[in-house]
Amino acid sequence: MKKRLIIGATGASGLPLTIECLKILKKAEDVSACLIMSDSAWITLKQETDLSSEELFSLADEVYDPRDIGAGPASGTFRTAGMLVVPCSMKTLAGIHSGYADTLLLRAADVTIKEQRPLVLAVRESPLSPIHLRNMQELSMIPGVRIIPPMMTWYTRPKSVEEMTHHMAAKLLEPFGIESENYHRWQGI
Ligand SMILES: Cc1cc2nc3c(=O)[nH]c(=O)nc-3n(C[C@H](O)[C@H](O)[C@H](O)COP(=O)(O)O)c2cc1C
Repeated sequence: MKKRLIIGATGASGLPLTIECLKILKKAEDVSACLIMSDSAWITLKQETDLSSEELFSLADEVYDPRDIGAGPASGTFRTAGMLVVPCSMKTLAGIHSGYADTLLLRAADVTIKEQRPLVLAVRESPLSPIHLRNMQELSMIPGVRIIPPMMTWYTRPKSVEEMTHHMAAKLLEPFGIESENYHRWQGI
């Protein structure tokens, strides 16, 4: 049976990263991608890409409505390999930090923490306020929670934004044991 990975997408900038992660997961034979888009993520998707909702949904194996608080990911008995929130807004970060699980996306993150499964947060905002930094710092202390901001990388000599996006997406999926093609790890000088 394929292992499920929950992909939560929120209204922070970075929807091309969500898409790239889903494309990598499509190629991974042993992983099933369960997508939860927040309402605000649709606004940034439209702003940042030309992808239709149908095209986006076709990249995922399962799609959940963020208002469907009774769906599988709301329960710990729904077995998953963890959850990646990409991109993760400061609002969703705050919701996860406080355990305020009023949507399926927030509840799924809450469940991931309580079940001690890996939770990766691709937090995105600039500049960061003391509130954002406190929320990140405190969440990073929980075993299994990783704060991985989508920061640009130059040492791979990317020739395009797409190449850099791919590198970042691969880095976000690495904690779940998912390998992707053309991911250049630093080999030393
Ligand atoms: C084009 C656009 C870009 C945004 N970028 C960010 C961002 O990088 N980080 C962030 O925290 N919020 C950003 N926001 C604001 C969030 O969308 C907003 O706080 C929203 O309420 C988040 O809700 P959600 O976490 O439920 O998706 C952006 C909004 C828009 C319209």
